[in-house]
Amino acid sequence: MKRIVMVLFVLLVACSFAFAGGRTTPGKLDVGIAMPETHVQRWVKDGNSLRDEAAKRGYRAEVQWADANQATQNQQIQSFLTQGARALVIGNINDGVGSVVAEAARDKVMVVAYDRIIQNSADYDYFITFNNFKVGQLQAQSLVDSMNLNAATAANPKLITLFAGSPTDGNAFFFFDGAMSILNPYIDRGVLRVIGPYPRSSSDTANFMRIATENWQAPLAKTRMENLLTNDARAVTLDAVLCPNDPIARAVIEALKADAKYRTRLPFTSGQDAEFDTMISIRNGEQTSTVFKDTGALAAAAILLIDQVMKGQPVNIPGAVLASGDLREIGNTGRKYVNTYLLDPVLVTRSNINAPVDAGFFTAAEAAQLR
Ligand code: GAL
Repeated sequence: MKRIVMVLFVLLVACSFAFAGGRTTPGKLDVGIAMPETHVQRWVKDGNSLRDEAAKRGYRAEVQWADANQATQNQQIQSFLTQGARALVIGNINDGVGSVVAEAARDKVMVVAYDRIIQNSADYDYFITFNNFKVGQLQAQSLVDSMNLNAATAANPKLITLFAGSPTDGNAFFFFDGAMSILNPYIDRGVLRVIGPYPRSSSDTANFMRIATENWQAPLAKTRMENLLTNDARAVTLDAVLCPNDPIARAVIEALKADAKYRTRLPFTSGQDAEFDTMISIRNGEQTSTVFKDTGALAAAAILLIDQVMKGQPVNIPGAVLASGDLREIGNTGRKYVNTYLLDPVLVTRSNINAPVDAGFFTAAEAAQLR
């Protein structure tokens, strides 16, 4: 009799587990981690940090990278759902991810948009990222300071050309608008002149698309810089180039170094992600600055968010603020405002090149080359 009761009990537990949240397979997986690409170094770190942070909190996690192909990422996410994932962390490529986010919602699976908002979806509740408007402000301020714009005159304006990130990435619009909130007053005073297309903000879609970089593909930026050097910027000497992330900055610098005009002095360049290759470039006096986003902290915060929500605890993420006021726009999916938690970005130049090293952002071997 006892055996029958035990068998019935085990069957009852297995069934309740399997059908809780509509799962098809008893949870072989707790957290599915879907990262967009590997051609931008930081996403490799993000995926590994997220998996490690999940394990630290006792969750079974799997990470996949999609090589900037949304259809691939959707298949990876569906595989996580089939394995019974209870939460998904998604750094999407574009809003084509919406169809699998809707599937997750139907399965009552928690979705966290990770550093890139999932646009045009009302099927999830959480977004964790950095203050991306401030990222752009830091990029532009570093160029303003490098050009000493406060001492520039309209008689002898400084010259800048503009690059933006991928038009499929909601962040790219905030990076650019943050930067232009700093640059436009100098342009209006005539002490800074834009060479090439000049969108005052990302809402100038035609001109924004002329300076955008599809899927953050740095080779496209290099080609565009080469075209600028033989056309709009041929008869002038640029003082600065607004670059939205490090691979684009390094591609722009490559194109500039091939032009005799810049052989002894490069224009000032911004960037983002504190990539190792860029840290070497900054130390060598080529790239001017980058914006360090501690993705180790972002990954820990994302997993803590999942842990607190799944345990029904109040959400309190140390080092992150819940977006409010104007910053709430960062969490506007176009269909709803999601709970958006913002971490703080840090500008890195030659003067504080140790900041990401001290934060443990690099391996010991990399750190040794940067100290
Ligand atoms: C953005 C991200 C940046 C940079 C860029 C290139 O979404 O916020 O940090 O990584 O993608 O992939």
